[in-house]
Amino acid sequence: MKILITGGAGFIGSHVVRRFVLNYPNYEIYNLDALTYAGNLENIADIENQANYHFVKGDITDAAFIDQLFQEQQFDGVVHLAAESHVDRSIKDPLAFVKTNVLGTMNLLNATKAIWEHNYAGKRFYHVSTDEVYGALGAEGLFTETTAYDPNSPYSASKASSDHFVRAYGETYGLPYVITNCSNNYGPNHFPEKLIPLFINNIINNKPLPVYGDGNYTRDWLYVIDHARAIDLVFHKGELAETYNIGGFNEWKNIDLVKLLCEQMDLKLGREEGTSEQLITFVKDRPGHDLRYAIDASKINKELGWEPSVTFEEGLKQTIDWYFDNPEWLVHVTSGAYQEYYSKQYEA
Ligand code: NAD
Ligand code: DAU
Repeated sequence: MKILITGGAGFIGSHVVRRFVLNYPNYEIYNLDALTYAGNLENIADIENQANYHFVKGDITDAAFIDQLFQEQQFDGVVHLAAESHVDRSIKDPLAFVKTNVLGTMNLLNATKAIWEHNYAGKRFYHVSTDEVYGALGAEGLFTETTAYDPNSPYSASKASSDHFVRAYGETYGLPYVITNCSNNYGPNHFPEKLIPLFINNIINNKPLPVYGDGNYTRDWLYVIDHARAIDLVFHKGELAETYNIGGFNEWKNIDLVKLLCEQMDLKLGREEGTSEQLITFVKDRPGHDLRYAIDASKINKELGWEPSVTFEEGLKQTIDWYFDNPEWLVHVTSGAYQEYYSKQYEA
């Protein structure tokens, strides 16, 4: 079995690639990644010499290249994670998100359809998506698989659009697909533009912790390795043409999460309790900021037996430990272009 994983040098993708390469030695795993600012071969350095692993540097927006790759390799399965993934960047440059997330997904769908069209048996296109497609919840309620799409940011609109195209290729051409919509991930290898790794990096460097608005926004956090476990399960056992929501049963208001993080970081750094909290700075809110996300993950739990394996306190501690054990990773990813991004986003 030959499987293409896209975006496997990124945060979630690297954990998925590692899991597939190590757990399925009889599969040939191809990792296709353009190595944008968010892609980093250091994330998967430990598996690069595995016999069943192949890295392909390439861009999913390049239709001719994608067509040729699929014609040459005749993949049996696709796990599609490559994307522009940061909401703040999508507010500054929405078109980049349409190109990669919508057109890039279209190119993969067309190339997949072209090689599978006459024999769909045993084939599967797995599209990895987000809970943000459902828009914002109020104080009550949970997103289920039947919640209507109502995306608010350019990022979530691009992901919603790609979800619709995947489903449309299933309905129109019979393409065998499955989609998952997951809540906020955290864990090792998370790029320090997202809340948790940004704040870990800033605390280490005694920089302000920019909390958007009043900090009373809620997210449902899931340890990245539990997401990779879910992707493995859905890829192998999920019903075709179905959607599964994946979440951590783990809602936190941003401000409470930041306080917990500060507490754990003070312990780790041997600083006096309360030291890191002094870095909290309330800044201008994100435009169109969704109030609350929370996933009802009972379908994947009941049908496939998946549940998170790591508590938030434990996962957060392991995440902090990883950043302390890999200081050179943080230095590499925060040099150059990151500094420019940071000053445009936070110091303008
Ligand atoms: P990420 O930004 O860390 O990684 C994205 C990867 O895609 C990078 O390796 C990058 O180089 C690659 N990439 C970007 N554009 C590409 C292109 N044009 N061609 C080929 N490769 C390209 O993202 P992530 O947080 O790991 O998210 C992975 C997927 O999971 C995305 O589809 C995202 O929408 C989805 N998702 C993320 C979260 C989360 O909390 N991070 C939650 C739910 C779903
Ligand atoms: O819900 C799943 C989504 O989670 C994924 O699809 C996205 O790819 C991923 O980036 C994430 O989106 P969020 O916008 O929720 O994540 P982010 O880490 O950017 O922000 C989390 C919360 O923290 C959000 O309410 C905004 C807030 N925040 C974020 C940053 C970067 C701040 O208050 N300050 C910040 O500096």
